[in-house]
Amino acid sequence: MDKIVIRGGRPLSGRLHVSGAKNACLALMPAAILTEEPLTLTNAPGLSDIRTMTALLESLGCEVAALQGGRVLAIGAERITSVRADYEIVRRMRASVLVLGPLLARTGRAEVSLPGGCAIGARPVDLHLMGLERLGAELDLREGYIHARAPRGLRGAVIEFPLVSVGATENVMMAAVLARGTTVLRNAAREPEIVDLAACLNAMGARISGAGSREIVIEGVAGLHGATHRVVADRIELGTYMLAPAIAGGRVELIGGGRALVAAFTDKLEEAGMCVEETAEGLAVSRPDGARPRPLHVVTEPFPGFPTDLQAQMMALLTLADGQSVLEERIFENRFMHAPELARMGARIDIHGGVARVTGVEALRGAPVMATDLRASVSLILAGLAAEGETVVSRVYHLDRGYERVEEKLSGIGAAIERIRG
Ligand code: UD1
Repeated sequence: MDKIVIRGGRPLSGRLHVSGAKNACLALMPAAILTEEPLTLTNAPGLSDIRTMTALLESLGCEVAALQGGRVLAIGAERITSVRADYEIVRRMRASVLVLGPLLARTGRAEVSLPGGCAIGARPVDLHLMGLERLGAELDLREGYIHARAPRGLRGAVIEFPLVSVGATENVMMAAVLARGTTVLRNAAREPEIVDLAACLNAMGARISGAGSREIVIEGVAGLHGATHRVVADRIELGTYMLAPAIAGGRVELIGGGRALVAAFTDKLEEAGMCVEETAEGLAVSRPDGARPRPLHVVTEPFPGFPTDLQAQMMALLTLADGQSVLEERIFENRFMHAPELARMGARIDIHGGVARVTGVEALRGAPVMATDLRASVSLILAGLAAEGETVVSRVYHLDRGYERVEEKLSGIGAAIERIRG
């Protein structure tokens, strides 16, 4: 298993390109199932999760061509030959469940493995199922699979989600585009990935309005056609790399990022004393010389609030703050697994339920640490950039699910980081 070795303490400078969003791309790829014509996605990130979704779509009969080193994905779903998303794939990646809505809309049938729990919490799919049932799907859960049928097709409905879910909004939106009549999604997720998916579906001939607000209206159409769509920039990768100069010092320009993608996060970074400027091509972040970060109170919330996917990385910065910070995790119940690893590097963190109290220390020290999930693993790398001495992060396969060429991107801005293949 690969490891990443970081020698900390070097200020960073230069430019870093932000990739296309993993989570947007993982929802856009299943949208290809909705039409016989090809869907071409540009600005796709080169990540193992994208390869897993490729394998899943191929298992359903789609043809997926990864062009320009995987940057462009051409997906053809002329014929769907299977409607079964197997446990072997779904257990590796929860986003697999996003084929459910499109399969049902296109073929009237789907069999998708239940994803089960994952490291960061229980993460049920009840809201996905509730929404599809409201569209007229007949659902049956047996032998670990969701068996879904819509023998008479799907029909539009008013669906109010009791809590905001990104995945459920995406799944139900994709099913509703081909339903008869109008669907209204209330308390819909407002994430940029939802806006991106709606834009792509509209380019394919769907009639969706209101994406990005709490209420999305979808007028069903009889069929969709092919399209070419550029995947939105990855706001979580952007926020992660904005933290690199904040924690290690220096100034870095993030090319392709925009403040609107990370507004709540950027406000917090500025409150911590960092300087964020909008540039012609993106955003530049710098840390005033000699200043320690100021402590913060951070609460994770659905977009436009502070993203849960940046909580672990922000914690890495706050371990070095000049005082005590509080991080409240309100989205997932078990998302502080990075805390004991950060403690191995000298951080002082107390956790009670969903609240972490971080008492800033003057310096972190390098240590061998273990990645436990995607965002946790990158928080350890950020901490390693600031720590004295050497940090060795093992189990980096978690990282490869969501961060493209992390060591190349960080060494490009002056970090001493390398991958040891194993
Ligand atoms: C997506 C993102 C993930 C991010 C999360 C929250 C993808 C592939 N993943 O995950 O990176 O951390 O949004 O921004 O886009 N819930 C239910 N029932 C459901 C669905 C969700 O109770 O049917 C709960 C979850 O347990 C969680 C909350 O709703 O507490 C939010 O989950 P959701 O927005 O669905 O997250 P994902 O779509 O899984």
